[in-house]
Amino acid sequence: MIIAIDGPAAVGTGTLARGLAARFNLGHLDSGLLYRAVAARVLAGGGGGHDPDQAAGAARAVAMTELAEPALRREDVGRVASMVAVHPAVRQVLLGRQRDFARRPPAGTDGAVLDGRDIGTVVLPDADVKFFLTGSLDVRLVRRVKELRARGEPFIQARVEQDMRERDQRDRSRAAAPLAAATDAHVIDTTEIDAEAVLETACRLVRSSPRISRTKVRRKSGAPSDTAQKVRSQESP
Ligand code: DC
Repeated sequence: MIIAIDGPAAVGTGTLARGLAARFNLGHLDSGLLYRAVAARVLAGGGGGHDPDQAAGAARAVAMTELAEPALRREDVGRVASMVAVHPAVRQVLLGRQRDFARRPPAGTDGAVLDGRDIGTVVLPDADVKFFLTGSLDVRLVRRVKELRARGEPFIQARVEQDMRERDQRDRSRAAAPLAAATDAHVIDTTEIDAEAVLETACRLVRSSPRISRTKVRRKSGAPSDTAQKVRSQESP
């Protein structure tokens, strides 16, 4: 089973992907980490993310083993990740890495779940189930600030808000694979529901997906609930 999840910064795509990976025994790839790994290499080389050749060189050098590096989660790395992500050559290199992961998920798993900005539209257009999460800027900002506090990372709230606006704008408006919902994605508005309700809703949609046969779905733990309310679901045409 292959699941694609997309959405803007701090909307909860990673949390949902981890939840679905645990429920359905899937390998998980946070594709944002690939762009962050490119950004970290560019920053280490004294660059700022604007030079397409430098960024593409960094993308070619990135190894999947680098993705566990905690420094990739930093805000400055995220900002430059959004900048290197506009270069088509960078996206082309990372496309192969992401498709390889989906084609050959980790041994012992029953498939893969990838989260990012263009997974359902470009990376895995044939995914079995697609989700697109939305959420107000205010709610996403609160979530991001909570995350930064939990990690003990110093921050200025106004700066985080400004960065998030700029990243949203850049991710949505770039010419190459902009952030957008696939026409066959289930759109879930997370503004007024918590992560658990989002997960339960998504699990229900996975189980009821016409692309997923009963035998394909092997639930590991947790019971379905009806807590989610604000859901708009777009079925495949
Ligand atoms: O999800 P994140 O904040 O870790 O992603 C960092 C940046 O990487 C994001 O602002 C845009 C880019 N990105 C992308 O362009 N395509 C993806 N599939 C994932 C991330």
